Amino acid sequence: MNLTPEQMAIGRRNFLKAIAGVPAVAALGTAAAIRGPARGGAVRVGFVGVGGQGRALLGRLDPVFADVRAMADINPVSLQRADDVLKKNKRPAAKHYVEWRDMLQHEDLEGVIVAVPLWAHADVVCGALDAGKHVLCEKMMAWDTAGYTRMIETARKNTRILEIGYQRNYNPVYRSAYEGVMRQGLLGDVHYVRLAWHRNGNWRRTGDPPSKDFDASKWGYPTWDHLWNWRLYWKYSQGLFAELGSHQVNAVNWFLGATPQHVQATGGIHRYNDGREVPDHVYAIFDYPGGVTGSFTSVESNAFDERYEAFYGTKGTLIIRNENDAMLFDEGAGAKATGVEVAPKGAGALLDASETKPANAGGTARPAATETPAKPNQPSPSTIEIARFCSAVRVGTPLLCGPENATHSAAWCIAANEALKSGAKVTIDPGFKTT
Ligand SMILES: NC(=O)c1ccc[n+]([C@@H]2O[C@H](COP(=O)([O-])OP(=O)(O)OC[C@H]3O[C@@H](n4cnc5c(N)ncnc54)[C@H](O)[C@@H]3O)[C@@H](O)[C@H]2O)c1
Repeated sequence: MNLTPEQMAIGRRNFLKAIAGVPAVAALGTAAAIRGPARGGAVRVGFVGVGGQGRALLGRLDPVFADVRAMADINPVSLQRADDVLKKNKRPAAKHYVEWRDMLQHEDLEGVIVAVPLWAHADVVCGALDAGKHVLCEKMMAWDTAGYTRMIETARKNTRILEIGYQRNYNPVYRSAYEGVMRQGLLGDVHYVRLAWHRNGNWRRTGDPPSKDFDASKWGYPTWDHLWNWRLYWKYSQGLFAELGSHQVNAVNWFLGATPQHVQATGGIHRYNDGREVPDHVYAIFDYPGGVTGSFTSVESNAFDERYEAFYGTKGTLIIRNENDAMLFDEGAGAKATGVEVAPKGAGALLDASETKPANAGGTARPAATETPAKPNQPSPSTIEIARFCSAVRVGTPLLCGPENATHSAAWCIAANEALKSGAKVTIDPGFKTT
């Protein structure tokens, strides 16, 4: 996306101007309105999986909403590092477990936050639901259709809450773009959506096992690399479509109020032929009803475009870059360079977010972080997400993603990988009934 700094500034101003005065955006107010009320005391939670993302959530959660009692992880170094996160945030220590089933049995928990590798989501989530816990599970929902179907059925059977961690749903920038641009019809008819998540770096992690005799084979990882680099193996992972694309498709489904029907894909291991199984470059084209086409590209050889979702309509274009930077352009009349005098009431996070990034700040050597808080002192979308999950447990505040919703981005991903492997155009079938 080759926009000049001037064009980006215009696009940001247009966006802010568009959402100013839209009652639904004003009603969003601050992040507090999205996260729900803090009532009835913090929810007693346990974590399963405190690797990179589990620890990120641990560090971001608000202790007013969530009281972390215990953490289960098969890697002792993950547990030690999670202790450091709690200490750094001046939180009480949490009890350690190796086996998540032991944690469920011995701890008096109300909720469980799951951040294990994708292939284990269904087993851990269903185990926690069957133990009567409410669950917030990281995306992607499950490795396969059978897994997410089982998760939905188990949540229903136990009448427990199940939320899937697509944090864009809790991000004030996205919520304002949805309410203030999409729902106002400012784009006209949207026939094309372009999604990009481009990086210039190796997805492979380097790192040593916790000890010479560490053996994770009884948990299904025959070598250290299978556990450490689970994303690179099909047994545990669904590759870039799952780890990156499913975030963006989830947001598009929400914005369009529709789900994709077919997908074609290509890609391969084009740069890092190092024993991995999943491609390091993927490209997918998919269609929604009513003549809407989406494209998703993810490359590991060039970060110029970074990551964005772009909606191209007959009247305008909406671009959300790096999860914190929204721009709106008029179609036809050209971008209107009018200033914004009126700040949207309660949309402070947006104003703060919109001038923070330099134009086209690509070229990152390492994969970019998957979440950028709007501003250092603003709660991050994950903070809001966990708080809302706890509000749902305490007072029934409705959740914003939901498992039925999350199955559609999972179904897209599973079909996209099938299309990539077979070369065929694949029908996307979530494979379950929502009632
Ligand atoms: N929402 C986001 O932006 C975001 C970002 C990154 C990762 N994620 C998701 O979070 C999940 C975890 O990813 P990650 O990057 O933290 O991976 P990771 O490898 O850093 O961490 C996974 C942790 O799970 C542990 N583990 C593996 N099997 C286990 C088992 N059977 N029982 C207990 N612990 C087990 C590992 O030892 C490790 O500490 C994935 O589903 C991933 O897609 C989401």
